[in-house]
Amino acid sequence: MATLAEKGAGAFDLTGRTAVVTGAASGLGRAMAIAMAACGARIAAIDRDAAGLASLAAAIGSESFVGDVADLGFRDEVVARTTASGRVDILLCSAGVALRKDALETTPEEFDAMMGVNVRSIFFWNQAFGRHMIAAGGGAIVNVASQGGIIPLEGRPAYCASKAAVIQLSKSLARDWIPHGVRVNAIAPGLSDTPFIASMHDVPGRIERALAHIPAGRMGVPDDMVGPILLLVSDAGRYIIGQVLVVDGGWTVF
Ligand SMILES: NC(=O)c1ccc[n+]([C@@H]2O[C@H](COP(=O)([O-])OP(=O)(O)OC[C@H]3O[C@@H](n4cnc5c(N)ncnc54)[C@H](O)[C@@H]3O)[C@@H](O)[C@H]2O)c1
Repeated sequence: MATLAEKGAGAFDLTGRTAVVTGAASGLGRAMAIAMAACGARIAAIDRDAAGLASLAAAIGSESFVGDVADLGFRDEVVARTTASGRVDILLCSAGVALRKDALETTPEEFDAMMGVNVRSIFFWNQAFGRHMIAAGGGAIVNVASQGGIIPLEGRPAYCASKAAVIQLSKSLARDWIPHGVRVNAIAPGLSDTPFIASMHDVPGRIERALAHIPAGRMGVPDDMVGPILLLVSDAGRYIIGQVLVVDGGWTVF
């Protein structure tokens, strides 16, 4: 039996594994789904954007589930259908929504809707697939947080609080589930050029002000998530537990 060192790039092989990916229709989730498929994983792609899922399916042969991740009835349907044909080895929760609003302007409805997607849905998708993975003897879960869960970002306190919650949830689940072979980790992206930040382009100078914080001198792009996700979900990352992999061009370091 070859060691992982002897396998080299083969340590990232996901052949025979099934990955459930939320937010797979666009941006970071889409790139991470494509990368896992390229390493051999079968992808169950979840999103409310049917057209985005269809284009992903055309590219990588993923199975599409169109719905709202905040709807736990939809979650139950996805769990039933994806686990009926075998084991789900990987859960990547990338679906998330922004709330770029000062605390003084934020309504209870906006707060609840954002928390419902960014925190509550992640908790309950982790719960359902964690239950499945514990019964199956193991698995890997990655939740997408944000650098905003680590440092405060201007003008979006509720969003930053939601991402801090994702980080602590991931660490707490990692602590509880690693005895069952389920590894939970988080990725914290920095500013990344996806539809998620489209509205920032409308405010003159906003992108430039952000770039001034990034030592790498550019925004992130979806391809920057490829190495991090493959490390965290493959055998190459088998001893990485409860970590937050920050992928931000150095913003939070300097
Ligand atoms: N782009 C950035 O600058 C950035 C930075 C830090 C963290 N993030 C996080 O990365 C994750 C992915 O963001 P992205 O940049 O790929 O954004 P994106 O807008 O390109 O993709 C997000 C996807 O999630 C889906 N989605 C959102 N809410 C949903 C819901 N309730 N049900 C089903 N699908 C839903 C959207 O339809 C979309 O396809 C998010 O959690 C976001 O908070 C993004």
